[in-house]
Parts: sequence; structure tokens; C-alpha cells
Amino acid sequence: GIIGCGRIADLNIQGYLDHPKCELVAVCDINEALAKKRMQEWGAKKYYTDFEKLCADPEVNAVEILLPHTLHLPAVISAARAGKHISLQKPMCTELWEGRKMVEVAKQAGVWFRVTENFMYYPPFRLMKKYLDAGEIGTPLSIDMRLAGGAGGWWVPLKTWLWHIDPERCGGTPAVYDDGYHKLSIAKFMLGEIEKVKCWLDFTFAVVDVPSLVTWKHKSGQVGVWEVETGVNLMMNHKYYGADEWVEITGTKGVITGTRCTSRLMEIPPLILYKDGQHIAIDDIRDDWADSFHDAGWHFIDSLLEGKQPDLSGEDALYLMKFWKAIWKSSCENREVSLSEIKEEAEQTNA
Ligand SMILES: NC(=O)c1ccc[n+]([C@@H]2O[C@H](COP(=O)([O-])OP(=O)(O)OC[C@H]3O[C@@H](n4cnc5c(N)ncnc54)[C@H](O)[C@@H]3O)[C@@H](O)[C@H]2O)c1
Repeated sequence: GIIGCGRIADLNIQGYLDHPKCELVAVCDINEALAKKRMQEWGAKKYYTDFEKLCADPEVNAVEILLPHTLHLPAVISAARAGKHISLQKPMCTELWEGRKMVEVAKQAGVWFRVTENFMYYPPFRLMKKYLDAGEIGTPLSIDMRLAGGAGGWWVPLKTWLWHIDPERCGGTPAVYDDGYHKLSIAKFMLGEIEKVKCWLDFTFAVVDVPSLVTWKHKSGQVGVWEVETGVNLMMNHKYYGADEWVEITGTKGVITGTRCTSRLMEIPPLILYKDGQHIAIDDIRDDWADSFHDAGWHFIDSLLEGKQPDLSGEDALYLMKFWKAIWKSSCENREVSLSEIKEEAEQTNA
């Protein structure tokens, strides 16, 4: 069952529709016309406007939750208590206690729970990780990431933009927290846990947290940097959002660069390996942003079929939320912050 049929559902649905062992039973959206339209478009059997009802449907055994962030906790509780396996879209929550509560309810219910983000499944980034683990660039020394926001991008309903940029409803900032979840996930995926961060977040029009600079040190010694900027007249060659990424890892004997995840700012190969004085361009690889969503969906279904925890567990997601909280604290207090300083708050409601 799909809960939330808004903007990003267009991409999240693809892997589920395409997986030979997955059947889309039901969709749910509070907007009835949209729920009906999605049911027809995606060939689901039925639609609901209340997620409690979808969760109670005995034909549904797993859900993908694609709701605004303040609804993540109630939807996870509803699905877990009804015994459904859960894939929740990033970012996990607005406060750490909510994330802890999700982990607990899923555990008590004995259901698999993951908090998905798609960048980890972008085929060039997965190959980058393989090269890294195979020692192609020697011992990694640093990771360098860039997000360039720009002009253009697909149509996004105004209602969607409004909750995404409202700190109360989004739970953080639009760039470094909301989009940042992907980048923090990639940093941890590539080089492991983080020891400390030092960051500077600026705001344009008092709303969007650009330009910003996020730096950190991994527990295993490598340094990381993420530059976040937006060019209002920087026209993106896009199919999706008007933004693009760049991830580069330097090692003791080489450099590996992954480009153009969301858009195609530069028409260069999606992965370039430099070693032994030579550039090796890898361009015979799937590199559409939609591929990353597709593969994230397949990973969830395959994990359920194999009866094992999908990647990006609830605990992993809580770790990324702490990474974000440390970034925010560092920027507000203008100092270096260790992740060990970030404590989980006590539960604030009797949800
Ligand atoms: N992976 C990515 O790159 C990416 C990109 C965009 C959004 N997201 C995430 O996806 C999720 C959804 O974001 P979106 O941009 O699609 O938002 P959206 O606002 O377009 O979609 C949310 C949908 O939820 C529906 N909804 C709201 N309240 C509801 C309720 N009580 N019951 C049922 N339906 C309800 C809305 O009508 C809307 O259709 C968020 O977690 C967001 O952070 C991820």
C-alpha cells in the first residue's frame, strides 16, 4: 500500500510496479480525487483517504509512507500496530524522540522498518562504493560533495513547497536538513560514522539555507565537506528538481568522482575513476535519478521476501538525524560539535 500520493510518489512507485513479486493493493491520500487518479494510473485495486483504514486492510502486508514529516510518526504507529512492514520516506522525523518511538513500535510489532532515501541506490554511487571497498583509490582520505540548486525543475504543487520550507512542518531547513538527509546518508555509506562537525548555514530571503558549508570528520579520520549553493539563474538540464550533485572521494592513490544524480548540470560521465595516472570514464551505467528510486523499491521488496532487515534501518536513520542536529547546533553556536553531544529527548506526547 502507498500512503501519500503527492509529488515524489511518481518516482517512488516505479520499483513497486515493476517488481515481479510485488502487487500494489491500495493507495491512500487525503485528497480523494488524487487517490482515485493514482489508483487508476497505477492499477491498484482500491483507494482510501484515511491511512488507518489502509493499514487495517488485511490484503496489504507492507506500506510505503510518502507523507509530510509531521505525519510520519502517526502513520508508522498505525502501520506497525496493524502488523505491516514499513518503508518510510526520509527524513525520518522532526524530533529525535519521534524516531526512537518509531523504532520501538516497529520492534514491538515484529515488522521490518526502514527509512529510505534514494541516493544510496543511484547506480554510479553504488559502483563508487564498490571501487572504494576494492581499494581502487587506496585508503580514502576525504569526501567532497556539492549541491548546486538552480533554475528550472519539474512542477511542484505550491502546497508541497509550502510545507517543505516551513520549519514547523518540515522539522528543519529546506536544504541542509531536508535535502541534506541524502548527502549525510551518502557520507556515512561511503566512509562510515562521524566524530564531529563544524558548519556555517546562511539563509537567502530568510527561508532557504543557502549558501552553506558543512564540514565533518569521520571516526576513521577522513574529512568531509559539503557545499550547498543556489544560483537563481543557473539553468539546470533537468527532468526532476532543479538541483544537481557532485561527490568526490580522494584516496592515497586515486580519485573517484560521481556526478549528476538529480539533474545533468554537466554532460560528463556519471563516474570517473582516476588511478595510476589515468582517467577511466564509466558511462555504460544506468544514471537516471529515477533509477535510484526504482532500486530502493526493489531492495525493500527483496529484503521482505528474504526475511531480512532492509538497509537504512530505523537506528541508521536516527544516526543521520543526530548528524543533522549536530550540524544545526554547530551553526547556531558557531563551534565544533561532537555527535556524542546530541542526546535523545524524552518522549513528548503519549502517541
Ligand atoms: N527522495 C527524495 O528525493 C524526495 C523528494 C521529495 C520528497 N521526499 C519526501 O517524500 C515525502 C512526501 O513528499 P512530497 O514532496 O511528495 O509531498 P507532497 O505534499 O507532494 O505529498 C504528500 C501527500 O500526502 C497527502 N496527505 C497529507 N496529509 C495526509 C493524510 N493525513 N492522510 C493521507 N494523505 C495525506 C497530501 O495530500 C499529498 O498528496 C516526504 O517525506 C518528503 O521529504 C523525498
